[in-house]
Amino acid sequence: MDKLLISGPCILKGEVAISSAKNATLPILCASILSPHAIHFDSLPELADVKTITKILQSLGVASSTEKNITTFDASNITSQHADYSLVKTMRASVLVLGPLLARFKTASVSLPGGCAIGARPVDIHLLGMEKLGAKIEIENGYIKASTEGLKGAHIVLPFPSVGATENIMMAAVLAEGTTVLENAAREPEIDDLADFLIAQGAKISGHGTSTITIQGIQLAEIKPLSSPYRVIGDRIEAATFIIAALMTGGDVVVKGFNPVHLSFVLDILKEMNAKLEIGNDFVHVKPSKNLKGAQIETAPFPGFPTDVQAQMMALMSIVDGGSVVTESIFENRFMHVPEMARMGTKIALKASSAFIEGVKELSAAPVMCTDLRASAALVLCSLVANGESEIQRVYHLDRGYEKIDEKLTNLGATIKRVKG
Ligand code: EPZ
Repeated sequence: MDKLLISGPCILKGEVAISSAKNATLPILCASILSPHAIHFDSLPELADVKTITKILQSLGVASSTEKNITTFDASNITSQHADYSLVKTMRASVLVLGPLLARFKTASVSLPGGCAIGARPVDIHLLGMEKLGAKIEIENGYIKASTEGLKGAHIVLPFPSVGATENIMMAAVLAEGTTVLENAAREPEIDDLADFLIAQGAKISGHGTSTITIQGIQLAEIKPLSSPYRVIGDRIEAATFIIAALMTGGDVVVKGFNPVHLSFVLDILKEMNAKLEIGNDFVHVKPSKNLKGAQIETAPFPGFPTDVQAQMMALMSIVDGGSVVTESIFENRFMHVPEMARMGTKIALKASSAFIEGVKELSAAPVMCTDLRASAALVLCSLVANGESEIQRVYHLDRGYEKIDEKLTNLGATIKRVKG
């Protein structure tokens, strides 16, 4: 298992180009199942999770090839509708093949993803949506066995604006007969990007980005090839991670290649904390910001404060003047970075779903262990400002969602060494 050796403190300076969004890429690649045409993508992010979803699609018979920065997926000859536990267990988003397989082949056998470090992460809302669309769902030996005579449009109200369930149901509804109205849908920008990707191939979707999405079903024969390679939106969570890294190190960094509107709430909170930010249409310029102060945040579905930035924000709050409160309302176990951060000298008390943070003047380097993707990012951020050399273990968690993060940070002036393990 690889580890990162990071020496601090450092001051980050320069420019960093954000990669395409993991959480848009994963559903969009699953959506390629819906098309009988080869689909070309421009600059997919090189991430462990993208490799995993590619393996799952290949196990279904999807052909995938890469030529320079263009990656092609061809689902014209899918031979299986079985997504095996051996692959699905490594990544929960694999359940997103369910909707497209059902829509196109009227059958699917997808392993239940199982939980993950941050929570049980059930898929009941996904399955509710599939049943409403006319699928028969049985759970057998840890697999979701789904079948239908043909999906039919329906009026579906989600009990919670689940990102994955919204994506799965939207994809399934594209080839359903008739119109589907999805209420209390999630509004994350990644859902917009998935809708744009589907519309570009002839899908009839409206309302995406609001909490009511309408999908008019079309025939498979109406799905058309893309006119040019598709470029997924910039990763707002990666961008937030670099913006916070710049602030923590007192640096001067231009973070570019994403839409700051996708981070409005986060940027508003950072400005409240005295961050000096210049916000452009596809970049944020972080300027040296003194006297940063604490804040109070609660994670929520978009456009609220994103849970995927909670750990990184806590790292920043750990070294500003004064106190902060972070309440995690999306996942039930997303504070695992706290005991690891405490090893570096942070002062954080946990009570139920809230963390009470007291800013400290300095952090000290320490060996720490990654537990999940965003917790890993928080540990990297702390090590950039801690005195000494920190050893970040189990960085495979980090590699799931951050493309070349050690290279990008090195280019900004950090001292990082990856030790192959
Ligand atoms: C997506 O996960 C993201 N992953 C997560 O990012 C992100 O944290 C999450 O949305 C919330 O924004 C991808 O897009 C691949 P949810 P997803 O369904 O779809 C409960 C990262 O770090 N729920 O909105 O799984 C669930 O348990 C990852 O990049 C049900 O109860 O999120 C959770 O408490 C982590 N039943 C809450 O809803 C369901 O059927 C939010 O889940 C589905 C979800």
